[in-house]
Amino acid sequence: MEGGLSPASSTRDDPGDRALPEPDRFRAVMGRFATGVSVVTARWEDAEGGMTVNALLSVSLDPPSVLVSLGAAADTTPLVERSGRFGVSLLAADQMELSERFASRIPSSEKFRGVACHRSPSGIPLLDDTLGTMECEVVEAHPFATHLVFLGRVTHLEEGSDEDPLVFWGSHYATRTGPRTLRLPDPRPIPLRETPRREQGT
Ligand SMILES: Cc1cc2nc3c(=O)[nH]c(=O)nc-3n(C[C@H](O)[C@H](O)[C@H](O)COP(=O)(O)O)c2cc1C
Repeated sequence: MEGGLSPASSTRDDPGDRALPEPDRFRAVMGRFATGVSVVTARWEDAEGGMTVNALLSVSLDPPSVLVSLGAAADTTPLVERSGRFGVSLLAADQMELSERFASRIPSSEKFRGVACHRSPSGIPLLDDTLGTMECEVVEAHPFATHLVFLGRVTHLEEGSDEDPLVFWGSHYATRTGPRTLRLPDPRPIPLRETPRREQGT
């Protein structure tokens, strides 16, 4: 095939292909993609939960909608599934402790202990003093592998402070060094193996 790609060079079954996306390498590459950090909260009957989430993205402005990807094993996930609603609180740079707390596998009563919150219109806890909060109604839910992906229509939105955001990059948090200045950790070398050169058709 003149000028084309070698047909077998990028298939998953090719044992000679050193560019396979194994989970560790995928994590290392995605770690280069800096994100903000949020806490996704939910409430179902008497149960409340909250988890740190950076797999959050804005999907459309009209209608305002977001997508979150939540691990199926997380305690918060079934609360979102059952209630069909979730809250999002966007963390500021000085809220690293909240991120760590909501990322830990402790009972939700301990997660929320001493944390200043208010309620969304449907009663979901939203964290105080964040960059912004919203309540979303789940319009689609897709299980995939270890996660459930929820598409949520934003039904309530609150603007918060205009502090710097908490940033997560390469398994580290960015730290604040002064007004409106974020300092990212030094980049860590990622042990990427050499990608095999694609052969030109002969
Ligand atoms: C910075 C950061 C980002 C995270 N992002 C996600 C995410 O997007 N989706 C997810 O399922 N878990 C994510 N986690 C892990 C969850 O917060 C963690 O599994 C948590 O214990 C779940 O809490 P729960 O079981 O009480 O609901 C993240 C953790 C950290 C520290």
